[in-house]
Amino acid sequence: MAESLALLSSSGNLQSHVQGNHRRLGCFPATRSPPPRRLKLPAKSRVFAASDEIPRRWYNLIADLPVKPPPPLHPKTFEPISPEDLSPLFPDELIKQETTLERFIDIPEEVIDVYKLWRPTPLIRAKRLEKLLDTPARIYYKYEGVSPAGSHKPNTAVPQVWYNAQQGVKNVVTETGAGQWGCSLAFACSLFGLNCEVWQVRASYDQKPYRKLMMQTWGAKVHPSPSTITEAGRRILETDASTPGSLGIAISEAVEVAAANPDTKYCLGSVLNHVLLHQTVIGEECIMQLEAIGECPDVIIGCTGGGSNFAGLAFPFLREKLVGGKMNPVIRAVEPEACPSLTKGVYAYDYGDTAGMTPLMKMHTLGHDFIPDPIHAGGLRYHGMAPLVSHVYESGLIETLAIAQTECFQGAIQFARSEGLIPAPEPTHAIAATIREARRCRETGESKVILMAMCGHGHFDLPAYDKYLNGELVDLSFSEDRIRASVAAFPRPS
Ligand SMILES: Cc1ncc(COP(=O)(O)O)c(C=O)c1O
Repeated sequence: MAESLALLSSSGNLQSHVQGNHRRLGCFPATRSPPPRRLKLPAKSRVFAASDEIPRRWYNLIADLPVKPPPPLHPKTFEPISPEDLSPLFPDELIKQETTLERFIDIPEEVIDVYKLWRPTPLIRAKRLEKLLDTPARIYYKYEGVSPAGSHKPNTAVPQVWYNAQQGVKNVVTETGAGQWGCSLAFACSLFGLNCEVWQVRASYDQKPYRKLMMQTWGAKVHPSPSTITEAGRRILETDASTPGSLGIAISEAVEVAAANPDTKYCLGSVLNHVLLHQTVIGEECIMQLEAIGECPDVIIGCTGGGSNFAGLAFPFLREKLVGGKMNPVIRAVEPEACPSLTKGVYAYDYGDTAGMTPLMKMHTLGHDFIPDPIHAGGLRYHGMAPLVSHVYESGLIETLAIAQTECFQGAIQFARSEGLIPAPEPTHAIAATIREARRCRETGESKVILMAMCGHGHFDLPAYDKYLNGELVDLSFSEDRIRASVAAFPRPS
């Protein structure tokens, strides 16, 4: 990475570079000593753009959908919600972005300035993984782990905090599952001078003490969830004092605090339209990078918890498919077998949180009080799926599959030992699905271009690797009965 940063900083206004290829367009000024001898990589190993090629606009897929997604409903009246209903939780600009039909939204200059700390992120050809799998497929991954928090989450944390700061908000609260989102929000708050309070799902709080320390280092206050601080938390603890918690419960706690304090707003790390919108910076950037090397994806694969990294990479390509007609990639969302909202959930109106305080959203859901088993991919332990991802799935525009965690970690080990990077537990699902596709290509002889969302590193997830390497990681069996019971409690108009 240091090498690519050096190239970026010296590249001035050069268009794009393909490292290891013959297009190194004189990026080293004559006054500098010659660059150190590089390890000889196969051509087109790594693709990145100059810093002035960070996308200037986010893309809103809703503008291009012939059938618009169903609106969120008020949790009490079951009528479509109004902007005023959301204003205790979000600043005006984010509420506007939540419902806009505009195709593109300009990224504020101040946000772009912060993005420049890690964007553009590298697009990397996984040549060594291809070799290991003996596949004719060409595998590329867009790596978001270079951000300060180590994942794609700061792409939305930074604008969310910036819009709050613009409106004079001083305190924000949130939940975190994997710890990545809490870290991202804490990081963004430290830049713009806001106070940040995070409810970290109990399972993740216990598994990942260093994530908590990162949040604290950036100045945030962190509570395990469920906590005794909130009514929602206390109610859950009364029924099960040793619950591992869930994202739904942690959301209830943070929303309760924001709703009760007029000087505090709530931030969400996934699911909502404005979050997916901000993440499209990934796909927009990736389109420029692939164009620079004349590649076009046949298959796009991403893991889905609430759907934001998947949508962030895939939606700009979906536009090219729907409107541009330039490409026709298969787009595949991968979820854990232990929390299969898309593949086994019901498409219905449900609450976004366990206590039933959020608006009702039409989405694929396992039921708002479904508590998934404590798999290591904490960021994928959410009962629902982004309404927009659910809608495009219902519209037949994407495919889905669920994979169990041992296969995911097998793939992660192959990836780490060939490509070097240690993935977060969440993208191991995308890696496992990519390996399946690459193996299919070996059987059919097709040289498909596979593009994968590699949304974060796993440097603070090593206890999961410890378990896997010691043969202690098991596939948590998934119970249809639990889903049936949970779905029976769906909200209905009184
Ligand atoms: C590294 C990483 N990937 C993926 C996810 C899942 O979220 P989403 O589906 O919104 O990308 C998370 C959530 O915390 C995460 O931390």
